[in-house]
Amino acid sequence: MGKKLLLNNDHIPGINTYEVYRKNGGYASVEKAIKTMTPEAIVEEVKKSGLRGRGGAGFPTGMKWSFLAKPEGVARYIVCNADESEPGTFKDRYLMERIPHLLIEGMITSSFALGANTSYIYIRGEYFYVARILEQAIDEAYANGWLGKNILGSDYSLDLYVQVGAGAYICGEETALLESLEGKRGNPRIKPPFPAIAGLYGCPTVVNNVETIAAVVPIINNGGDEYAKVGIGKSTGTKLISASGHINKPGVYEIEMGITVEDFIYSDEWCGGIKNGKKLKAVVAGGSSVPILPADLILKTANGEPRLMSYESLADGGFATGTMLGSGGFIVMDETTSIVKNLWNFTRFYHHESCGQCSPCREGTGWMEKVLHKIIDGHGSLSDVDLLWDIQSKIEGKTICPLGDAAAWPVASAIRHFRAEFEDHVRNSKKVIDPKRLVSNAVY
Ligand SMILES: Cc1cc2nc3c(=O)[nH]c(=O)nc-3n(C[C@H](O)[C@H](O)[C@H](O)COP(=O)(O)O)c2cc1C
Repeated sequence: MGKKLLLNNDHIPGINTYEVYRKNGGYASVEKAIKTMTPEAIVEEVKKSGLRGRGGAGFPTGMKWSFLAKPEGVARYIVCNADESEPGTFKDRYLMERIPHLLIEGMITSSFALGANTSYIYIRGEYFYVARILEQAIDEAYANGWLGKNILGSDYSLDLYVQVGAGAYICGEETALLESLEGKRGNPRIKPPFPAIAGLYGCPTVVNNVETIAAVVPIINNGGDEYAKVGIGKSTGTKLISASGHINKPGVYEIEMGITVEDFIYSDEWCGGIKNGKKLKAVVAGGSSVPILPADLILKTANGEPRLMSYESLADGGFATGTMLGSGGFIVMDETTSIVKNLWNFTRFYHHESCGQCSPCREGTGWMEKVLHKIIDGHGSLSDVDLLWDIQSKIEGKTICPLGDAAAWPVASAIRHFRAEFEDHVRNSKKVIDPKRLVSNAVY
C-alpha cells in the first residue's frame, strides 16, 4: 500500500463528524500551530515541505505565502479555491464530502500562519450539497472553540465562511474567483497586481486549492522535512488523482508522487487496468486542459524512461512529447475512443465557459468548436486540420488568463499526436445533413 497523508482516515465510519474526526487526531495541527509556533515558523515548515499548489499550476506554496504583503492595519485574506470545474477532476469534492474537517483544520492553521482573521471557501455552485456539509462542519468547529474569538485561549480570532459560486468554470481562475466573491461578474483581472499584493477587496490575499490547504495539516503535524521525504525530486508528498474513463476502477486515489504511470493504470491498487481487456489508446493526465498523450508516450518518455506520476516526469519532453500533472484529472481512453469527437466535446466546454473578455479566446474557442463539428459531420476538408492548428496557435499566450491556453493545448496536442485520425474523419465520416446543425454552424 502506498503512503497516505490525506485520505488515511477516509474509510472510518463517521469521519465526517467532529467527534470521530477529533478522536482520530483531528485539529492537532491547529493546537500545535497556535500553542507552540509562530506564524513565520509555519510558513518556514511549508517551504521546507516543498509542497506545490495542487490547483493545476504547481507553484511552490511556501514561496507564494512568503510573497503576501503585510502592510500595517490592512486585512489579509486566505481564500480556498473549491471551484473544481475542470473536466475530469473531482478529487476536491471527494475530500470535502468525506473529511470536511480536514479542510477546515487546514484553513485555520493556514489562516493563523498568514495572519488572516476572515477566510473564505469559494465552492462551485453545482456542489451546493457539499457546501451544506462544510457549513455543518464549520458550525461544529465553532461550537468546539476552533473558530471564533480567542481560539484555544490565544489572542488569535478567525471567522470562516463558505461562499457558493454560480457554476462558472472561469471562477476557478483565482482573480475571477475574487471578483465573484466580491459580488461582481467573474472576469479575470489583469495582473500585476497579483492577489498577494491586491486581492480580495484590494487587500493582500492568498488563493489556494482545497488539496493544498489540506496538505498543510500533515506538514505541520509531522514537520516539513518529513513531508519532503515522501515523493520524488521537486514533486514532494502525495497527490490526489481523479481517475476516470475506460478503467476497471475509476475513483479518487491518493498516490505517492513518483509511482510509474504504468503501475497507476494497471495495478489493482489503483485503476486496475483497461476495461474489457481493451488496449490503451491515450491519456489526458491532468484534467482536460493538459496535452493528451498517446499510449506509448504516456507510459514512457521519448528517451525510453518509464513515465512517473510527478510534475517533472509528466512534463519531460515539453509539449512535443510530454504533458502536465495539472489538477490530477487522469482520463484514460481505450482503443475505441475517437480522439476527434472527444476533442470536440472538450472544445465545446471551453467555448461555453470562455468569459468573453479577450477576443482570441471568445472567438477562437467558437471557431475551433465549429471546425471540429464540421469535420465530425463529414463536411470537413484536409485544410480544416491546418485551420484548427492555426486558430489554436492564435489563442495560446494571447489572453488575460490561461483559459485560452487551456482551450488551445488539447487541440494542439491532439493534432500533433493523432493527425491521421483527423484526416481519416475528413475522408471517411458520413455526411450529416441536419438543418439544425447547419444553422448552428454557420461557419460552413
Ligand atoms: C480557467 C481556470 C480555472 C481554474 N480552476 C481552478 C479550480 O477549480 N480550482 C483550483 O484550485 N484552481 C483552479 N485554477 C487555478 C487557480 O487560478 C489558482 O492557480 C489556484 O487556485 C492556486 O492554488 P494552488 O497554488 O493551491 O494550486 C484555475 C485556473 C484557470 C485559468
